[in-house]
Amino acid sequence: MRIWSIANQKGGVGKTTSVVSLGGLLAERGARVLLIDLDPHGSLTSYFRYDPDSLDTSLYDLFFEKRCKDLDYIHKVIKPTSREGVDLLPATTALATLERQVSGQDGMGLVIAKTLAQLWDDYDYALLDTPPILGVLLVNALAACQRLVIPTQTEYLALKGLERMVHTLKMVMSSQNRQLPFTIVPTLFDRRTQASLMTLKEMRKLYPEHLWKEAIPIDTKFRDASHQGLFPNEMDRLSRGVRAYRHLLAELEQMEEAKNERTIEK
Ligand SMILES: Nc1ncnc2c1ncn2[C@@H]1O[C@H](COP(=O)(O)OP(=O)(O)OP(=O)(O)O)[C@@H](O)[C@H]1O
Ligand SMILES: [Mg+2]
Repeated sequence: MRIWSIANQKGGVGKTTSVVSLGGLLAERGARVLLIDLDPHGSLTSYFRYDPDSLDTSLYDLFFEKRCKDLDYIHKVIKPTSREGVDLLPATTALATLERQVSGQDGMGLVIAKTLAQLWDDYDYALLDTPPILGVLLVNALAACQRLVIPTQTEYLALKGLERMVHTLKMVMSSQNRQLPFTIVPTLFDRRTQASLMTLKEMRKLYPEHLWKEAIPIDTKFRDASHQGLFPNEMDRLSRGVRAYRHLLAELEQMEEAKNERTIEK
C-alpha cells in the first residue's frame, strides 16, 4: 500500500480537493483507494454526503479500546463513496475533542499506522486529508505516510504558511527520527495575476528541490463537482484542473518508482 498525506497548516489551500482529485484519478486506473478524513471539520466526509455531526462511527472510535487492531471494527467504520473502488474512513466532529482525551497516553501517534497495517492488502493507496493544526491527528498522518504533498495557494501570504509547514514537518520528522519526502504543489494558480506569478517565482527560489514544476489552475469545475458529491474526473475527465492533477499524479508515481529503484540498489 502506498500512503500519502496531504497537509498544510494554512486553511483553504486545496487539501481536500487534492485528496478527492487524486483519489478519483487513481480509481480511473483501477486502483483500490482509501480516503481518510483526519480533519475534525469533516469536509472530506461531507463531500461524499455523510454528516460528520451524526455518523455513529468514525475514525475517532479507532483511538479507543485498541479498535485500530480490530479489522471487523475498522470495516464497520469504512463507508463507500460515489465511485466503486474508492472508500472513505470518515471523520466526526468528536475528533475535535481527541487531543484533550488522549494527550499523554502512549501509542496515540500510531493509531492510523496500525489501522492501515490491518488494511494493507485491501487497498493500493491511502490518501490522508489532514487538519490545519499540529496535534495528535497530524502527527498520526505524518507517522503513517511514506510521502507528503503540500498544496500551497499561489498568493503571497501563503508563503508564510508554507514556511511554517516545512518547519513543522522537520520538527516532527526529527522527533520520529525519520525522513519523509515532500512535494509542494502550487494551487489556485491564476496566470493572469501578478500575485500568482510572483508567488510561484518565490516558491521556486525558496524550495527548488521540493517544488512541483507545474501548478493546479483555478477551475470552477472543482466547486461544481463538490456540489454534486462527485469526483472531479467523474464530472469532467478533461477539465483544466483534472488534467493538472493527472500530471501531478504521474509525477508522484514517478518519484515512487525512483524511490523503489534506490531502495533496491541499496
Ligand atoms: N484549483 C481550484 N480552483 C478553483 N477552486 C478550488 C481549487 N481548489 C480548491 N478550490 C475550492 O476552494 C475551496 C477550498 O478548497 P479545499 O476545501 O480543497 O481546501 P482545504 O485546504 O482542504 O481547506 P480547509 O483547510 O478548510 O480544510 C473549496 O471551495 C474548493 O472547491
Ligand atoms: Mg479540507
